[in-house]
Amino acid sequence: MAERIKVLMTEEEVDRKIKEIGLLISKDYEGKEVRIICILRGASFFACELAKRINLPVTIDFMSVSSYGAGTESSGHVKIVKDLEESIEGKDVIVVEDIIDSGRTLSMLLELLKARKPNSIALCTLLDKPERRVVDVDVKYVGFQIPDLFVVGYGLDYDQKYRNLPYIGVVEFDN
Ligand code: IMP
Ligand code: MG
Repeated sequence: MAERIKVLMTEEEVDRKIKEIGLLISKDYEGKEVRIICILRGASFFACELAKRINLPVTIDFMSVSSYGAGTESSGHVKIVKDLEESIEGKDVIVVEDIIDSGRTLSMLLELLKARKPNSIALCTLLDKPERRVVDVDVKYVGFQIPDLFVVGYGLDYDQKYRNLPYIGVVEFDN
């Protein structure tokens, strides 16, 4: 099956949005230090760009969870593949994700991280597909709300491909 990519958000649009979120976070967390938790692998591109746009002391740590196989549907089961290197106790944590789909990954992760007693914890996602939500999650920073489409680029993959695209695109399949 062949795939084509149709641009949904250009590189400029994504960059502008990340700057906006960076400014918001810089204001909301003024006087504090921010610990970014980047959810691998998808959020890595977004998290790095976002960190560069936050005008405060920022530390960054990485976590990897798996909820998807090679396809486009959530398995409904989330497991920690790689845990954080450092404790988040007493920290002001922002969990950075690429996309919220069913919400299963983030809601499970949030419960787990809250138990580690951060001073505060907020969620930030580049993309949100509200139509697909199965589990309710409170997301503080959302880049773009998108319809129920399978998207790639800016860290998002289809079968591990297309993460390196500098824009967000929709995968179209030729049958
Ligand atoms: P959730 O648990 O269903 O919210 O799944 C979130 C995860 O599913 C994201 O971190 C992505 O890895 C993956 N995902 C959901 N939708 C898409 C998409 O449209 N393109 C690529 N990955 C996606
Ligand atoms: Mg992901």
